[in-house]
Amino acid sequence: MDKMWAAFALMASMHAATKLVSGDFGKTREGTPVRIYTLTNKRGMVATITNYGGRVVSLKVPDKKGAMGDVVLGFDSIDGYLNENPYFGALIGRYANRIGHAQFTLDGVLYKVPKNDGDNSLHGGTRGFDKVIWTPHTRYDGSLELTYISKDGEEGYPGNCKVTVIYRLTDANELKIEYSASTDKDTVVNLTNHSYFNLKGGGDILGHLLTLAADTFTPVDSGLIPTGELKPVAGTPFDFRKATAIGARIEQNDEQLKLGKGYDHNWVVSRRPGTELSLAARVEEPKSGRVMEVWTTQPGIQFYTGNFLDGTIKGKGGKVYARRSALCLETQHFPDSPNKPKFPPVVLKPGREFKSATVYKFVR
Ligand code: BGC
Repeated sequence: MDKMWAAFALMASMHAATKLVSGDFGKTREGTPVRIYTLTNKRGMVATITNYGGRVVSLKVPDKKGAMGDVVLGFDSIDGYLNENPYFGALIGRYANRIGHAQFTLDGVLYKVPKNDGDNSLHGGTRGFDKVIWTPHTRYDGSLELTYISKDGEEGYPGNCKVTVIYRLTDANELKIEYSASTDKDTVVNLTNHSYFNLKGGGDILGHLLTLAADTFTPVDSGLIPTGELKPVAGTPFDFRKATAIGARIEQNDEQLKLGKGYDHNWVVSRRPGTELSLAARVEEPKSGRVMEVWTTQPGIQFYTGNFLDGTIKGKGGKVYARRSALCLETQHFPDSPNKPKFPPVVLKPGREFKSATVYKFVR
């Protein structure tokens, strides 16, 4: 039976639309070997992903003339990822985004998580899912499965939490990311991918046109922790319900823009009832003609304009990553939900499965 299954899997992989090839990506400082995976679809779109932090290393998509270009920030080798960098391409967990005062109460117990962003905890703590080695599994259908078991107490979070992420490249030029998680103790979970996009392939992102399917956003305090309010976007620079250049209002005299040093906020996705994936965002770069849509099952999306990039990091091909040279669209639960009872819940219980999916679709 096993042999039959193996033969079937081999035949299926030979016919899979997406080709998946694995290679060596060097070693961590502790000497653990790291792999890199190249997914190529029928139309020539290529995604490379490493199991170090589950990071998307490159994403090559066509422009309006069919010329392929890499639309994400990152590094040519593992060393760049091992050095300090703001989560380029990474999977983020156990709790993506911020937890206020780096603590929360669950079932009457106070949990303290690392303070790595002023008084707050950001993106899972000191050694979040972005800095761990994921166990890879290449699937017969050409997708890449990554698994990580986060131990009870790791970075302060309760419960042994098993997380699986599947990266799938479809022939419709979609990078689909499917997340699932389970636990043996009540815990909190918020998972996302932290790719930095520049659809032009260089320069700043201020001329990219953005649409966000959101009527409200979650305003923040000076530590970028939501106040708890859902604020209507109407009449504010946060209204992206119609396609608008990112740079059009970014320097306006607006309290929230000042607190974020630009856009660095969570929008509440207008979900269509009864549909699984909702269109949360659309980005169009007029020069290249590239268009990216973000579809998700998640209730929120963090739109971040690379305000903290400062030109000190040199990435692929020696490119300097300057302020606002990329944008992030992180699908997620709202920041600080463990301390905000009115936000959609983020508690995962034993016997239940957390599931979410996000699709980055390149329309051309
Ligand atoms: C946060 C930013 C932060 C960036 C990189 C984003 O998700 O909202 O404030 O600077 O991640 O750490």
